[in-house]
Order: sequence, then C-alpha cells, then structure tokens
Amino acid sequence: MTPSKKPDNKLTNPVMEIIYGRRSVRKYADKDVPDEIIREIIRAGTYAPTAVNKQPWRFVVIKNRKLIDELDEKAKTIFVSMFRDSTVPELAVYAKNLAKPEVRILYEAPVFILVFTSPDAMNEHDCALAAENMMLAAHSLGIGSCWIGLAAGLGSDETFLKETGVPKDHKLVAPLIFGYPAKGALPAPKRNPDVILKWIS
Ligand SMILES: Cc1cc2nc3c(=O)[nH]c(=O)nc-3n(C[C@H](O)[C@H](O)[C@H](O)COP(=O)(O)O)c2cc1C
Repeated sequence: MTPSKKPDNKLTNPVMEIIYGRRSVRKYADKDVPDEIIREIIRAGTYAPTAVNKQPWRFVVIKNRKLIDELDEKAKTIFVSMFRDSTVPELAVYAKNLAKPEVRILYEAPVFILVFTSPDAMNEHDCALAAENMMLAAHSLGIGSCWIGLAAGLGSDETFLKETGVPKDHKLVAPLIFGYPAKGALPAPKRNPDVILKWIS
C-alpha cells in the first residue's frame, strides 16, 4: 500500500487512517449490529499474531439487551465490593461513584464480546492483540468499540462462567463493547508525541 502525504505533510494510507480514527466509544445508537459483521470482527481478531501459533482466543458474544444490563450491574457490584474499602483513595472514590445506580459501565452498548484465553496459551498478549484487531476492524466497518476493564470481575464470577459455558481454566482478558456510535463522538484524546526514550542509529 503506497502511502500518500496529507496537507500537513504526514504520511497516510487507509490502514493508518483507521488506526488514527479509532477511539473509545461510550455512547451508542439504538441499532442492531448484524451478526455477519460481528463474525467478521471476530475473524479479524483471530488474525492477530500469536505466540507459537497457539491461537488461544475464545469469544463469548452477548447481544441480549436484558443480559447485557444484568452483566453491567453484576460487574459494577463486583468492582464496588472489591475496591470500596481500598486504601488507594482514587480507587475508593471510583468505587463510590460506580455504586450510583445511573452509572452504566457497559454504556448500554448493543454488543458485548468477552475475549478469554485458553489455558494452553503462552501468554495473555495474544488476546490483547486480538482485541485491538477487533476494535480496528470494527472501526473500519463503521462500528464503535471500547475495552471495559471495569468489567474484568465477570471473569471470576462462577455463575456467569457457568451460564455462558466458559471453562473455569479460561481467563478473561478483554471485555469489549461494540455498537454503532451515537452522533457527536469526540476525537480520541491527544497522544503524547514525546515517547521515544532513545533512538540509536
Ligand atoms: C485495558 C484497558 C481498560 C480500559 N477500561 C476502560 C473502562 O473500564 N471504561 C472505559 O470507559 N474505558 C476504558 N478503556 C478505554 C480507555 O480509557 C481509552 O482507550 C483511552 O482513554 C484512550 O482513548 P481512545 O481509546 O479513544 O484513544 C480501557 C482501555 C484499556 C486498554
């Protein structure tokens, strides 16, 4: 793919536009995401690099509105009970804010995909790479996404694992939400350009 130069002289091509254009979406339109698009997003996830070609990613897809709302509540409850008495003041404040009933950690997204790693994985990075592939692929298809670390507690909730048929030896790496973005999304936060510690030529 030959890059072209934008007016500001930065190199660009369609892939870079997708990378720079993606952002975490926290407001979704009330519109169904077709199953074939979700399958394509997952397929993109499976094309991530994977140590020793283990391909350890396993996916749970939830499109049921009622269940997503219940899981939102459950994940919040787990987080609040874990951190409400934290000695780290920021975490305790966070837990207190989350306890408010109007707070929705899954932002009422229409699709919730949990990326688990199977126990034979060499590491968890593979699933994080799959997650990023999925979010970029989604953006390229007009679908917004957000990684919801606050929902990580679901990965150790026995009832949830039983209900979804996830084996106990699988570990939740990436809870991801997807959906068509509601209008008015802001651009991604500015990146700090000063990140190169050293450059040795
Ligand atoms: C591991 C991880 C956990 C995250 N957890 C949350 C979360 O619980 N809730 C949320 O709204 N955003 C969450 N995010 C999204 C980040 O806040 C977001 O990526 C960051 O602010 C940069 O914005 P951008 O994704 O729009 O570029 C998470 C991102 C990562 C990588």
